[in-house]
Amino acid sequence: MDPPAQTEVCKAQTLEELVAILHQLFAGEKVNVAEVQSVMDSYESHPEEWAHFAQFDQFRYTRNLVDKGNGKFNLMILSWGEGHGSSIHDHMDSHCFMKILQGNLKETLFEWPGKKGCGEMVKKSERVLRENQCAYISDCIGLHRVENPSHTETAVSLHLYSPPFETCHAFDQRTGHKQKVKMTFYSQFGERTPYAASVSQENN
Ligand SMILES: [Fe+2]
Repeated sequence: MDPPAQTEVCKAQTLEELVAILHQLFAGEKVNVAEVQSVMDSYESHPEEWAHFAQFDQFRYTRNLVDKGNGKFNLMILSWGEGHGSSIHDHMDSHCFMKILQGNLKETLFEWPGKKGCGEMVKKSERVLRENQCAYISDCIGLHRVENPSHTETAVSLHLYSPPFETCHAFDQRTGHKQKVKMTFYSQFGERTPYAASVSQENN
């Protein structure tokens, strides 16, 4: 991880502009976490720019691919129905940025379980992320669970993962045991993924 940049970070006025700036920020070999977080923070959510990506499922939250970032990152929109939540999961040594586009999301941070994964997992902290806020997590920080705490409102978030990954681990809160899970996209570039390819066990 690089130290925070001294240069002024661009502000993204639209989602399209944000994607263009992200391509520039990820053009080199190293990722400047503070810079990426700052530019994602700067984008003010306009639903008309992302609504076609934000496809919902009745039973669980969905992952919708927005941009493949020249192979350097995956940018996706997660659509959370009322009460939907993720497993406790890791991020496969990638950077993970999470910006709220609509509604609120509760993030609960956990410590990594011991080697054998014995017993209840240790909760480190929890917070509610609000519209336009951008959070960051990596395996160095810990594990997390993300959920839409509202039973009346949906939520939408924009996630950037770099480098991209297709599997991660889901953890059992009571035992700390982990399980490898494959993640898929509910839609890609606004088009629903064919059913057979979109069935997943879990996702992040
Ligand atoms: Fe995550």
